[in-house]
Amino acid sequence: MPARTTIVAFLLLALAFVAPVAAIDDTEKELDRYRQMLKADPWSNPGLLEADRGEALWKQVRGPKNASLEGCDLGKGPGKVEGAFAGLPRYFKDADRVLDLESRLVWCMETLQGFAKAEIVKRPYSKANQTGTDLEALATYVALKSNGAKFAPHLEHAKEKAALALGEGLFFRRQGPMDFACATCHGESGKRIRLQALPYLSKPEEARAVIGEWPAYRVSQGTVMTMQHRIADCYWQMRLPRVDYGSDVTIALTMYLVHQAKGGDITAPSIKR
Ligand code: HEC
Repeated sequence: MPARTTIVAFLLLALAFVAPVAAIDDTEKELDRYRQMLKADPWSNPGLLEADRGEALWKQVRGPKNASLEGCDLGKGPGKVEGAFAGLPRYFKDADRVLDLESRLVWCMETLQGFAKAEIVKRPYSKANQTGTDLEALATYVALKSNGAKFAPHLEHAKEKAALALGEGLFFRRQGPMDFACATCHGESGKRIRLQALPYLSKPEEARAVIGEWPAYRVSQGTVMTMQHRIADCYWQMRLPRVDYGSDVTIALTMYLVHQAKGGDITAPSIKR
């Protein structure tokens, strides 16, 4: 019976297409459940250990100038950490630059503690299964102190406006051997690569849901990952040369992302896959 055989063959073929999609959706749901379980019990978030380490580092007298970071001005005055992350990146008169959290930490370690910049940024972020770096711990500590606050980025100074414009331009600029822009992977809802959801980062609702989650504890790496690292990693995925830690480019992109996420909750450190 050729007709029945054809129908059966057709049904089998249809199933072959449908089944993997259903399996992926189930896996995604399970991954989501796993993340929710980790979130529901804050004690199970290893990112908090990094925040504790960061707090100790913040208070510790270190470096050639024998100073702690307690004199560091993150935008709210020297030593004021509470809520400071919510207002970053911003223009700093002393540096005459727009700085994000991480580049401001580098600036303070350099000027207050006397560390050489080249030394500080030699290993700014950790690789899988390495212990976290000082910058990762410090960034996690400062971000945690804004947990519960909402992003309220500054946009008064001409350099802040220029950084935002640069960030927006870079986000949509196709570059590199693959001719990718950030928007190629993050410019539409519902996209994913394998099991990783790709948020539509220029859509405020989606940016608000994820940008405040960074720095985040990354289960697959066993360490905390910062926004500078996240952007550098995405540039690597675009097959572009390694971008400098705290460069104007990464700060401008952070400025753009934070402006898209304006009003969104800061929930750092969160947990990522
Ligand atoms: C080739 C595709 C691709 C491009 C292009 C790309 N990214 Fe990504 N991006 C990813 C993937 C994949 C992830 C998720 C990684 C993971 O789950 O570990 C991600 C995650 C992110 C996240 C975290 C999102 C979340 O869910 O918390 C941010 C922020 C981000 N990218 C920013 C950027 C920026 C800025 C650019 C441009 C410089 C960019 N990406 C370019 C693939 C890309």
